[in-house]
Amino acid sequence: MADHVLVTGGAGYIGSHACKALRQAGYVPVTYDNLCTGWEDAVKFGPFERGDLLDRARLDAVFAKYQPVAVMHFAALSQVGESMKEPGKYWLNNVGGSLSLIEATVAAGCRNFVFSSTCATYGEHDNVLLDESVEQHPINAYGSSKRAIEDMLKDFESAFGLRHVIFRYFNVAGGDPEAEVGEFHRPETHLIPLMLDAIDGKREALTIFGTDYDTPDGTCIRDYVHVCDLVDAHVLGLKWLEDDKGSRVFNLGTGSGFSVREVIDHSRAVTNRDVPYEEGPRRPGDCTKLVSGSTRAGKELGWTPKRSTLDIMIADAWRWHQNGHYDK
Ligand code: UFG
Repeated sequence: MADHVLVTGGAGYIGSHACKALRQAGYVPVTYDNLCTGWEDAVKFGPFERGDLLDRARLDAVFAKYQPVAVMHFAALSQVGESMKEPGKYWLNNVGGSLSLIEATVAAGCRNFVFSSTCATYGEHDNVLLDESVEQHPINAYGSSKRAIEDMLKDFESAFGLRHVIFRYFNVAGGDPEAEVGEFHRPETHLIPLMLDAIDGKREALTIFGTDYDTPDGTCIRDYVHVCDLVDAHVLGLKWLEDDKGSRVFNLGTGSGFSVREVIDHSRAVTNRDVPYEEGPRRPGDCTKLVSGSTRAGKELGWTPKRSTLDIMIADAWRWHQNGHYDK
């Protein structure tokens, strides 16, 4: 019988793509999601168990039912701006929820844990390329909550032998080329889907958050990685744990940074449409530049991004944008 993997947040953007990749790799992904930001329609590749991370009894029952060989933990609140206004939500859901999940994992005797972290844990580093050894000084509550969970995993490894792979994502974009699943947030806060909304008239204009940053064109720079490449790394991370290679942290980015204005230019070229935009003030919590300087995932996991060019990411997002959506 195929091995089960418990995927928290499997009804969300990245989690649903991970479920597809796991299924293709021969695992059965079991989605555990409270649907606070996810979509039941996105659960297509394995069983669905609706539940909250803070509901320990429900988690214990799900572990007992499926006896997963590993956990992939995606479920989290992930909006930088919101985290600045409502930090308590982030500490309760992300940190409290993860503590409940990690304790349930250990209690069930499962020892392999793949965790979705973020480059937002690094904070501002004055134009350096970020590798895994850079000190973590998050400047928003979202990044602080993820860093706290990374620390938690280390403590649970010392005490209980919980082996973990931590992935620090840069900016995830694009979607399944077959458009079975895609990026669909309500409310939407991410640059590329908001821009596609502006392009086809679903919103009036994109607002550029800040044009006075210390970058060549004054707008923030990010390292965009295709969601399908990102989830491929997770399957490699799972195999890494199954091969007993020990706990490890990997950045997932391409090492190429693009400014907001450059993303607008590429979107215009890919869609062959005008991008209505206006210039606005900075958004609290935004770092100037977040670009990966690491080749560790390539060297150690054998990870090779295949779809992470800006044009492919925008084209895949555009295809989903025109054809795909979920209903509650
Ligand atoms: N931006 C705009 N206008 C918008 C939305 C975004 O100018 O309407 C800008 C932002 O200021 C930023 C860039 O576009 O410079 C990307 O913003 P996103 O909101 O798409 O992504 P973030 O960089 O804020 O955050 C994302 C994820 C986080 C993750 C982070 C790591 O949402 O979970 O990437 O960089 F931590």
